[in-house]
Order: sequence, then C-alpha cells, then structure tokens
Amino acid sequence: MSTGELNHLAEIDFDTFKRKVKLTYNLDLDAYKRPQMERRLRANMERCGAQTFQQYYSMMQTDNTLRDEFLDRVTINVSELFRNPDQFETLRTKILPELIKGAQSGLSVWSAGCSYGAEPYSLAVLLDEAAPGVHHNIHATDIDDKMLARAQNGVFQTQEMRNVSSPRLVKYFEPVSGGYMASSVLKKMITFRKHNMLNDAFRTGYDLILCRNVVIYFTDETKSALYQRFFKSLRPGGCLFVGGTERIADSNEIGYENQIPFFYRKPYRH
Ligand SMILES: C[S@@+](CC[C@H](N)C(=O)[O-])C[C@H]1O[C@@H](n2cnc3c(N)ncnc32)[C@H](O)[C@@H]1O
Repeated sequence: MSTGELNHLAEIDFDTFKRKVKLTYNLDLDAYKRPQMERRLRANMERCGAQTFQQYYSMMQTDNTLRDEFLDRVTINVSELFRNPDQFETLRTKILPELIKGAQSGLSVWSAGCSYGAEPYSLAVLLDEAAPGVHHNIHATDIDDKMLARAQNGVFQTQEMRNVSSPRLVKYFEPVSGGYMASSVLKKMITFRKHNMLNDAFRTGYDLILCRNVVIYFTDETKSALYQRFFKSLRPGGCLFVGGTERIADSNEIGYENQIPFFYRKPYRH
C-alpha cells in the first residue's frame, strides 16, 4: 500500500474514533489542538498495545482504567492552590476589592475547569479574608467526574499546598494523612457541578470568572468563541481571570478592557 493510501486509512480511523468519542463521552476532540492531543493519545495506545484508534476505542469500552486514562490524557488535570501566586495576589489586592464594592451582596464567582478544586478553594480563602461572614457563591465546574469527586472531598497533597502561607494553613485547613483538608467554612461557599464548557449552557451575572490553564488545549477558533461566551456571562464591571501563560488575542473586538495582565474586564457600559 502506498504512503498516501496508508495516511488516508489513518485519517478514516481517527475520524471514526472522534465520532464515537463524541457520541459516547460528549467530548468534541475537534476543539482540541490536533498534534498535541494525537501525540498524547498515541502514547496511551502504545502502552496498551492498540494498533489503531478504533482498536483503542474498543479496548476502552471494556476497561474503565483505559477509559479514565484516555479522558485524563485529553483534558489534563494538573493544578495546585494559588497557582501563580503573584496573580492571585493581584486578584486579592486590586480586583476583589473593586468587585466587592460594586456588588450588592456576596460575590458570584465561576471557576470553569476547576479540576480537583485547588482553584475554587483558593478563591474561597480570598473571599473569606476580603469579606468575612458574607455569603459568597463559588460555582466550580469541570468535565471530569473523577476530579469533581476529589474536589468535593477538599483534600490536597502537601506539595499542592506549597503556595499556601502558614497563617492560611492554620486558619482554613486541617492536617490529614498525606496532606490537608479544607475547612467547612470554605466548603460551604463552593458548589461543584459537572459541566462541559464546549457544549453546555452558561449561567449569567457572574462578578468573576476564572478559566485558567484549560483553553491551552483548544484551537484558536474554539478559544475565541469561549471568551465571547464568558463575556456574556459576566455582569457589567465583572472580570475574567485567565492562566499565567494565556492572553486573549481578540479581547478588544469582544469588548473586554485589559489594563491588568491576565484580568479582562467587561465594561460597565455593556
Ligand atoms: C490543567 S487543569 C486546570 C485546573 C485549574 N483551572 C488550574 O488552573 O489549576 C484543566 C482542567 O480543565 C478541564 N477541562 C478540559 N476540557 C474541558 C471542557 N470542555 N469543559 C470543562 N472542563 C474541561 C479538565 O478536566 C481539567 O480538570
């Protein structure tokens, strides 16, 4: 068979795999950057001995570990509390005071792609410090059930807590075997929910949205559409906080103001 024919068969194999994955897991692989994703998946296939994507799909149907590994590989779950501490400090000192001033009551915040919860628990600490006793709502969502189950428990390994200061550790966490558990004060602020940001509806009226270290795997087109949807989800004056290596290329066109790096504000006139 010629190289051209082999490539054609490989394309059909991958297309069929994508279609099946979409139907079974509601996961649209076309939204992810192809070379990176394909490399990660091929590494998985090699480990389990699958020769083709379709063979890999069949194996996943009877082996839950393979299926979980596949979902992990595509979506990647690395996180830690106060990831990029300088940016969380900017959030604490510059962004939250303004948002709290502009809100009628507690803040409504969305942590989109929250993984195992490090991000929403970090937020809960900052909100409790900024306005103690006020009821804030943090909606924390992810596509991955396994990560959400872990997030609900609120237990973190010691190395995931390396950016948490000693006073915060003492006030908001209690030591458990191998790490720390978040206090009930923090847990009460957060509601965890399964949500696919590429398909599912967005709530509106948020004061603050965090979407950090998620879109890096999406195509430029998908990113732009997502940032437009976040814009609609924010209340006027609300803010979107992105990851430490991320910037919104078409932020002006969408309507965001971006005076502070990594923070994109929806102007009041909207
Ligand atoms: C690298 S983690 C980022 C966690 C946290 N935001 C942070 O910055 O530390 C990326 C998370 O995005 C989630 N994710 C990927 N695609 C998603 C989608 N389409 N909808 C919702 N969450 C998604 C993954 O399951 C994963 O938990």
